[in-house]
Amino acid sequence: MELAFVGLGKMGRSILEGVLSAEFAAPSDIGVVERDEKTTNEAAAIYGVEPLRYENLSNAKRVLIALQPKQFPAIAEKLAHPSVGYISIMAGVSTSVLARNLGTRRVVRAMPNIAATIRKSTTALTAPKEGVEAGDLDYAMALFKTVGDAYRLPERLFDAFTAMAASAPAYVALVAEALADGGVHMGIPRKEALSFAADVLIATGELMRLKHPAVIKDEVASPGGTTIYGLAEIEKGAVRSAFYAAVESATRRGRELGEEE
Ligand SMILES: NC(=O)c1ccc[n+]([C@@H]2O[C@H](COP(=O)([O-])OP(=O)(O)OC[C@H]3O[C@@H](n4cnc5c(N)ncnc54)[C@H](OP(=O)(O)O)[C@@H]3O)[C@@H](O)[C@H]2O)c1
Repeated sequence: MELAFVGLGKMGRSILEGVLSAEFAAPSDIGVVERDEKTTNEAAAIYGVEPLRYENLSNAKRVLIALQPKQFPAIAEKLAHPSVGYISIMAGVSTSVLARNLGTRRVVRAMPNIAATIRKSTTALTAPKEGVEAGDLDYAMALFKTVGDAYRLPERLFDAFTAMAASAPAYVALVAEALADGGVHMGIPRKEALSFAADVLIATGELMRLKHPAVIKDEVASPGGTTIYGLAEIEKGAVRSAFYAAVESATRRGRELGEEE
């Protein structure tokens, strides 16, 4: 068996769907283990993959762990097999904690985001030397490219990456909702306001592939025009410093959670 999934919640399912749709691995080469036999069988039937038990994991070349971090310590021992390469997406769980609990240094730590559900995740990956040399990191890079973009990142930056890129859909959704509320405040119907907010966010993201954000801002804000008046109000709300503080606070929280392991 090429790849086994442990935990098929929101993220596990998204990654499995990406893998199947890209034909990265055949369904007959993929297995799943869920919380109990019933949910394992149900999940396997939905995707046409193999239902597994923990003891079957030793037959897998690689195991992707998509459990909640708090669920991991209790079952780590049952997942541990010396000949398997592990890929974890558990927030805050370091490669050294993975290695200690799984009894092997063939581990990859990956941090995708919720956009994996639409195959637009920005995923960071890291691995110790053993994971690199065994080909686990290259395998995981290719795997996460089935659900978006994948980048190697030093592990010391993982908490910052989690705080910035993995949490970002929540930050940006809050900005989008506030923008739509502003439109509603001025009389635009809610449905249209939300749709306009989504359109401008997507378009601005695409423009940022071509131009620096400051250039986009300057091109829109003509002297004495409407946009610069709007920007003046946003600056009064200290939005920039709120984002600095948000990323700093979320990075610290990521470290704390990692230390609790
Ligand atoms: N959601 C995000 O945006 C995001 C982004 C990046 C990384 N992550 C990380 O991805 C991981 C999964 O997140 P998620 O949002 O997919 O969580 P989730 O929806 O709660 O998925 C976890 C899955 O594991 C199952 N499970 C629980 N105990 C198990 C066991 N002993 N054996 C096998 N399966 C078991 C759960 O079943 P039950 O529902 O029955 O408990 C659930 O289906 C987390 O570690 C999180 O930190 C999430």
